[in-house]
Amino acid sequence: MATETYESLPETSPMGAPLDWAWLRGAKSEWGVRPKPSPRGLTMLDIAVGSYAEPQDHPLHRSMAPRGADIESGGPDMGYIVNDKSSVWADNVTELYEEAVARQWSATRDVPWGELRELPDDVEHAMCQLCTLLTEVEMIAADLPAKWMWRMNHDFIEAKMFLCTQIMDEARHAEVFRKRALSNGGGLLLSRSQPTSLLRTIIEAKTYTQATALMHLLGEGFVLDIFRMGELIAPTDVEKRIFRLCMQDEARHVAYGTMHIRYAIEHDPDVAEEIHEALDHGEIVLTDFGGAPDVSTALAVLLAGGVEHVEDKGFPLSMELSKKQFSSYLARCERAGISRLDRTKIPLDLLGIDPETIRAAGGSAPKGGRDAA
Ligand SMILES: [Fe+2]
Ligand SMILES: [Fe+2]
Repeated sequence: MATETYESLPETSPMGAPLDWAWLRGAKSEWGVRPKPSPRGLTMLDIAVGSYAEPQDHPLHRSMAPRGADIESGGPDMGYIVNDKSSVWADNVTELYEEAVARQWSATRDVPWGELRELPDDVEHAMCQLCTLLTEVEMIAADLPAKWMWRMNHDFIEAKMFLCTQIMDEARHAEVFRKRALSNGGGLLLSRSQPTSLLRTIIEAKTYTQATALMHLLGEGFVLDIFRMGELIAPTDVEKRIFRLCMQDEARHVAYGTMHIRYAIEHDPDVAEEIHEALDHGEIVLTDFGGAPDVSTALAVLLAGGVEHVEDKGFPLSMELSKKQFSSYLARCERAGISRLDRTKIPLDLLGIDPETIRAAGGSAPKGGRDAA
C-alpha cells in the first residue's frame, strides 16, 4: 500500500493554472483491494468487495458518481426517482448480467438460414403470422427498461447493466423474428390493434415494480412458454434453433423479474398490494390477447403441422400450451412471494389447473441465476 503524501508536487501547471492532486493524495479506505478472478475471468461478482459490493438500501446522492468512489458533495441532481434498492434490485441480478454477456448470440450468424426450405403455404403463413406478432411485442421489453433506466439511482449499476443486456436481447429477438418472416417467401402478415392494449398497459404502469410484474412475470413469462414449446411449434430446425436461442435470453429476463418482485416484497411488504392490482388488470388484458383469433389459430396450425389436423391435434396442443403458460405464471408468482391463487380471475377449472399443485410446486425459494424463471 502506498503511503506517500506527495508533498513536493507542484501547485500550478507550467502555464500557471492551479493543479488539483486530491485524487492522488486521497486516503481511500479500500485502497489496495485486489479481487481474484474466478475461473470464468474477472466477473462483476468477483469485484463486489468491501464498500464496492452491495448498494445501500437508500443511497442519498443523485449523481452518476460511481458507487464506492470518494464523492464530492453538492453535485448536480440527475433527476432519479427510483432511489430505493428494493424498487429495482434482485439477488440474482449481477449473476444474470454476467450470464447475459457470456451468452450473446447473433441472429445473422448463429441461425442456419441456409437450411430454410420451402414449406406448405398454410405452415409458412402460420409461422409468418407468429413472427409478425413476436416482432411487434418483443420490443416492449426493450422500451420499458429504457423508459425507467435513466430514472434509476446510479448506485444500482448492476441492475441497470442487466437491463442494458435485456434491451440488446430484445433487439435481437425483434431482428430474428423479422428475418424469419421475410426469409422464406411469406413476409409480415396481419397486425391487429389488440396487442397494443397489452403493450400500453405495460408501458403505462405507474411504478417500475408494477411494470416489471406486468412485463417480466406475466408478459415475458407467457412468451417464454411459447419458446419452451418451440420443438413442437417449429416446422424446421431453423425455427427450433431460433426458439432455443431466444428461450435462454427470455429465461434470464423472467428470472430477474421474479427475483425482483420477491426482493421488493421482502423489503417492503406494502408493495404487494400495488403488484396485485397491476396483475389483476394485466391478467385480464393478457387473457384477451392470448385468446385473440390470430394468435390462437396460427399457433394451432403450427402445432398441428398444417390446417388438416388443426382440430384433432392443433387445438388440443394449444390448450396444453395455455395450461402450461398459466400454470407456470402462477407458480412463478408463488416463487416471487405474490401468490395469486386466491385472487386471480383466471378460469383455473376451465384450464384444468389445480391450485394446490401450483402452491406445492412454487413454494421453495429459487437459488439464483435462471432458476427463478
Ligand atoms: Fe424477448
Ligand atoms: Fe424478454
